[in-house]
Amino acid sequence: MKSQDIESQIKNLLNTRFIGRQLHYYPHLSTTMDTARELVKKGASEGTVVIAGTQTAGKGRIGRTWFSPEGSLAMSVILKPPLKNLPQLVMIASLAVVGAIKHISGLDASIKWPNDVMIKGKKVCGILIENEVAEGKVNYADIGIGINVNFNPMDLPEISDMATGLSHESGKEISVVQLAAKLMDELERLYLAARDGAAIHNEWRQNMETLGKRIKVDTGKTIEHGTAEEVTETGNLIVRRGDGTLIEIVAGDVTVIKD
Ligand code: BTN
Repeated sequence: MKSQDIESQIKNLLNTRFIGRQLHYYPHLSTTMDTARELVKKGASEGTVVIAGTQTAGKGRIGRTWFSPEGSLAMSVILKPPLKNLPQLVMIASLAVVGAIKHISGLDASIKWPNDVMIKGKKVCGILIENEVAEGKVNYADIGIGINVNFNPMDLPEISDMATGLSHESGKEISVVQLAAKLMDELERLYLAARDGAAIHNEWRQNMETLGKRIKVDTGKTIEHGTAEEVTETGNLIVRRGDGTLIEIVAGDVTVIKD
């Protein structure tokens, strides 16, 4: 199908005011993050979306690679939020994914701190946010969302242990077009609510599977072990170590310890 046809199919399903109204679909890209940043430099408006059929150099968090073969959704959304809403983007994006997955596939997904979306303990979606802040103003925030839709991560030995896909879990093919449109609807709804002062944090917390679990967190500088006790309103994770002390983690990679 032609890129223009896919763009029109998605746009026809949208209920948004601005997210996805400027939509760029490419069959193949290195990474939607770089394309989105180039569009920002050329003056792209808030809500502009880039989608790739496949990515050859998909970027994950902490310098990792993200696999985006045929059957994935790889999307970057350009936002220009007020500075006070920047920490909420992690929450907005992960909640939007959980909502869109439920609506389109019927599957229950949950959030592993900070923003991995999981089904039955396996990762189905990763989120990467890149932003530029100068003089107290957010120049842009690109929300990159990768979802394993109709490809089965079991076929990729590198990730087969920890990843899953929507069609594999639901036993049916899922429309990437419908999922992308619903995701944009959910993102805009939550983003506007957050900008109006809604308590996104509570909903995020309620959808988080990490709380109460014994975990290991790799912060990049230290490895912490303990129990995930709480998440703060700015999105940080509070961990209670074995000796009873508390530590607040701003960024890191969580592994849930199975009993
Ligand atoms: C992670 O869990 O490590 C984050 C993965 C983010 C992947 C998405 S796919 C769309 C966008 N383009 C990229 O290159 N990365 C993000």
